[in-house]
Amino acid sequence: MATTAPATRPANPRFSSGPCAKIPGFQLEMLADAPLGRSHRAAVGKNKLKEAIDLTREVLGVPADYRIGIVPASDTGAVEMALWSLLGARPVEMLAWESFGEGWVTDVVKQLKLDATVRKAPYGEIVDFKEVDFNKDVVFTWNGTTSGVRLPKADVIPADREGLTICDATSAAFAMDMDWSKLDVTTFSWQKVLGGEGGHGVLILSPRAVERLESYTPSWPMPKIFRMTKGGKIIEGIFVGETINTPSMLCVEDYLVALKWAKSLGGLKGLIARSEANADTVKTFIADKPWIANLAVDPATASCTSVCLKFTDPRIKDAAAFAKAVAKRLEKEGVALDAGAYRDAPAGLRIWCGATVEQSDVAALMPWIEYAFEAEIAAQA
Ligand SMILES: Cc1ncc(COP(=O)(O)O)c(C=O)c1O
Repeated sequence: MATTAPATRPANPRFSSGPCAKIPGFQLEMLADAPLGRSHRAAVGKNKLKEAIDLTREVLGVPADYRIGIVPASDTGAVEMALWSLLGARPVEMLAWESFGEGWVTDVVKQLKLDATVRKAPYGEIVDFKEVDFNKDVVFTWNGTTSGVRLPKADVIPADREGLTICDATSAAFAMDMDWSKLDVTTFSWQKVLGGEGGHGVLILSPRAVERLESYTPSWPMPKIFRMTKGGKIIEGIFVGETINTPSMLCVEDYLVALKWAKSLGGLKGLIARSEANADTVKTFIADKPWIANLAVDPATASCTSVCLKFTDPRIKDAAAFAKAVAKRLEKEGVALDAGAYRDAPAGLRIWCGATVEQSDVAALMPWIEYAFEAEIAAQA
């Protein structure tokens, strides 16, 4: 029983699942090279955008024949662009196991009004990929940020599929190994694993996705912000930094700083190692605690970024109120900010373990969770 407050506090209490903690040692002065007050179409701006695309390719190991574009409206914008531009050509399967995946289901079924096959798993579980028909277009979220459940490996996706795979990888990119040969469309935003800013999305297209864009025109109107083709041809400029509309060059600079930090760690391998070490710290801590558990039912699917925990003590009277009170106590103590479960998810805590979080901070937080838990059990009585 931890009834006295732990002696050590995390040096950085930022455990939010988005926007996530900035890179270690971040200071605004690091953005001094941002070409502020200049056109993003001037050489200086275009070069920055191109560098961001090139470094994204380098760090993530994206094949040379895949297009990478910086697009408006964060990850949501990138996903919507893909759904609206590509779907409708062939049957669709929508996979969801938490809130964001469910959002894409709603868009496709209710807004685009496509007669999709929908496969859903409850929070903590994942859909059975063996049942999925990859000759249809398949839309899924690699890591369910709100349930802490991820696709462990892409080997369940056949290489010879006829459909396209459209993957929302916003809380997976830069923290998980993604097999590009299995992904036709991949999206993410900067505000997650690299601790960047909101507002900008990244859209990665395989040659097969580009082929679809050039051979298929959806029956619905296409807003300018989603348009990736002109006269039946892909607009190549988008994929070398000629963005559809005006980006924030301050955010671009911030993303560049984070990408360079990622490179200094050894790239993707270094990022994954940091994230896995953080998640392992939580895993080790909860292993012998009967009152707390990972929301992920199968440990093989447990996320290394958005680690979701539930309280399992039978003494808890009101699960939602209890979890909220624990999160509030952690926040009040200044040891964990924004660590409550997502509003649509089961009651509990969500500890962001992405690469920008220091393992020493995760380790320092753990005893505080026990302390806050015991304090709330006592308060309840
Ligand atoms: C899986 C997933 N998809 C989409 C989003 C939306 O991202 P954005 O707000 O960057 O558009 C989030 C944000 O947390 C997410 O976790």
